[in-house]
Parts: sequence; structure tokens; C-alpha cells
Amino acid sequence: MNLYEGLITRRTVHHFRTDPVPETIIRRMLDAAVQAPNHHLTQPWRFVVIRGNNLQQLAKFRYDLALNKAQTQNRPHAERIAEQARRDFAFIPAVIAVIQILAEDPFRQQEDYAAVSCATYALMLAAWDHGVGTYWGTGAVTRYSPALELLGVQDNERVVAFVRVGYPQDVPHVPRIPADEKTSWLS
Ligand SMILES: Cc1cc2nc3c(=O)[nH]c(=O)nc-3n(C[C@H](O)[C@H](O)[C@H](O)COP(=O)(O)O)c2cc1C
Repeated sequence: MNLYEGLITRRTVHHFRTDPVPETIIRRMLDAAVQAPNHHLTQPWRFVVIRGNNLQQLAKFRYDLALNKAQTQNRPHAERIAEQARRDFAFIPAVIAVIQILAEDPFRQQEDYAAVSCATYALMLAAWDHGVGTYWGTGAVTRYSPALELLGVQDNERVVAFVRVGYPQDVPHVPRIPADEKTSWLS
């Protein structure tokens, strides 16, 4: 797949197969991520690859959060909703936490967030180059203290994304407003 084809065909994957993604591919994703543009070469990122028991623990945290939310909202089938939230993490090969190291200066933080977002996208595109699907999530678990403790996220850091990683069961079609409708040309 060439770069342009990857950019055009990558989609957020919602349903993953359970077979593992080779560690060599995950390493290639991370190598691509750290090549992202970043102003002043701050390289304001770090990554935690979560698999195995730690991923099961993270899945349990999603269960707890979803159950609490569904019960608070008096939704019927709260436990079923929570179980689905757990399964979304429990049966995938890996989640990669993309973490921003927070600078003190607010403008630097903003620029660094842009850089970490570029790194996240690079990670996803590198996965897609190998036919591996991804899903950038920022649900409540990315801000949940027990989860942050599990990952060793410090006070001067924040989770920008939990990227789900796995081979897709299916790839959705998500149409876009054409670029022509979003662009003015000045000359
Ligand atoms: C900053 C950011 C946060 C996101 N958080 C979530 C999320 O919490 N849940 C979710 O379903 N999708 C999330 N997404 C994925 C978008 O919903 C997805 O990219 C969008 O639907 C377009 O689909 P595509 O990636 O297939 O083009 C996030 C994307 C970005 C860039």
C-alpha cells in the first residue's frame, strides 16, 4: 500500500478479530509515531502497549465505568451495556496508550497536543500499512484514576488516546464532505 492509498482507505475499526498482532508490527507503528512533526523537537510523547492481564484489568475498569453511568441514567440492561464495554477491550490483541508529557507553558502544551495527535495518526496509518486496524478512543477510562495508576501516568502527563489495535473483522464506510466544498483557492 502506498502512503496516499493508506490515507484514503484507513477507517476506524469497530470490530476486531482476536488473533494477535505481531510485536514487529507494533514496533513499526511506534517507530512511525516518533517520526511525527513536533515544534522545537519537544518529542512530547510516550506510549504504553497494553496486553494480557493488564488489558483485562483495563477492560474491567471500562465495565465499572459503564455500569456506573448506565445505573446513574436508570438505563435498562445496565449490566449488559457494561459487559459490552468490557468486551470491547477484553477480546482485542492490544491497546496502545498515547501519552502527552505536559509542558508548563499553555501554548507549548497546545502545540505539543497537535504533535501527539500527529504521532497517534502516524501510529494508525503504520498499522493500516500492514492491514491492521485501529480505533482512537478518548472515553472516560482515559481519565479514570485507577487506569492512570495502572499505566503509571504522572501528574504532568495526560492520555491523548487509547488506540485499539487488531485485524479488522470489517472496515466501515465513512463518507466525507468532498474537499472541494471545504476549500477556497486564492490567487
Ligand atoms: C481526538 C479524537 C478522539 C476520538 N475519540 C473517539 C471516541 O472516544 N469514541 C469513538 O467511537 N471514536 C473516537 N474517535 C474516532 C472518530 O469517531 C472517527 O475517527 C470518526 O468517526 C471518523 O471515522 P474514520 O476514522 O473511520 O474516518 C476519535 C477521534 C479523534 C481524532
